Amino acid sequence: MAESIARDRSKFLAPFKLEGGVVLPDRVFPAPMEGVLSPLFCHALAQKHYVKAWISPFVRVSNGGPPRMSRIRKEISYLLETGLPVVVQLMGVDPDLIAEVASRYLCIEGVVGINFNFACPSKRVVMRGAGGSCMQNPALMKKIIERCKSRCGDKSVSAKIRTGFSRPDECLEILPMLRDVGCDFVAVHHRTVTEGYAACPDRLRRLEKAKQAWGEKTFLASGDIFGIQDILELEQSSCCDGVMIARGLIRKPLLLAEARDVLSDETRQHTGDLHQREQAFEFLEHVLILCSSNVKLYWNHRYLMELTRGLFGVQDPVFRALTQFKNHDGPMALLEKLVEFKQAELV
Ligand SMILES: Cc1cc2nc3c(=O)[nH]c(=O)nc-3n(C[C@H](O)[C@H](O)[C@H](O)COP(=O)(O)O)c2cc1C
Repeated sequence: MAESIARDRSKFLAPFKLEGGVVLPDRVFPAPMEGVLSPLFCHALAQKHYVKAWISPFVRVSNGGPPRMSRIRKEISYLLETGLPVVVQLMGVDPDLIAEVASRYLCIEGVVGINFNFACPSKRVVMRGAGGSCMQNPALMKKIIERCKSRCGDKSVSAKIRTGFSRPDECLEILPMLRDVGCDFVAVHHRTVTEGYAACPDRLRRLEKAKQAWGEKTFLASGDIFGIQDILELEQSSCCDGVMIARGLIRKPLLLAEARDVLSDETRQHTGDLHQREQAFEFLEHVLILCSSNVKLYWNHRYLMELTRGLFGVQDPVFRALTQFKNHDGPMALLEKLVEFKQAELV
């Protein structure tokens, strides 16, 4: 629904100065998504100018010595290749090792900060005491940030958390601790770790309390941002200074760009959500053309089927038709079929 109330320029579009001096253009980010932010998806998003900066999917810092520079660089090369600034997200439990790995990443041109994953709810991760499990161990979180701050000088060190491990008020003590120990910014997913992805009706109230506990520094909200209305709701509340979009981006890769358009219009008018299907056609076509340009680098049949499912939905005839193709058919066959559907539907 179009709105007509004039508002100030959005706080989400204000330049975002990181510690260390790098200024990111705004506070509208794709969220880290391991397995989804593939080279193909990231390069396609970047070519379309939908993204202005990345927060990488988590890089595991496992026991043993720190990896060599060549391996470290390779891990994030697909993001660096876009030419956009990269905040590298690390996940682990050994503060000294993590600090060493963080300092190596920060030597790479294009890496503008380190983010710690204290949010991942995966059972395997939690069993090892990493990711979301750290929400039960604030002393470890503190140690990790402290060690990194001492190794990484004035560079941006930040955290991604959930509101708690099992209770959403746990973050009310954790956030001031993270701030006082020197976190540059924080990204908060409003659910607890044990809630996983269960429905959660009080996102705004949880985020508002968390933001109050955190204070003035930049606070990015993550969770259930599927369309422009979700972004406007967050913008109009006092619960965050920016957003990080995850699953919504799979359904609607144009969401970041649309959000910027709407947020820069003082009346916040939009019709973008109405054109989801056209966007799905357009983006998938772009992806398949890119994929055909370098099959060796990009072709991954299973991944493309997942992406198509995300873009169109499992019941959609486009998805059903494209799943008939097999790995050996390659991207051109998919592209031809897609264009056939597009022409029939959108002319
Ligand atoms: C497939 C997938 C992979 C994810 N990988 C990461 C990750 O590497 N690091 C991280 O901090 N969060 C990760 N997340 C969590 C998202 O960044 C985000 O916080 C969460 O999905 C809630 O946002 P949404 O409702 O917009 O999806 C992942 C989520 C999904 C769905």
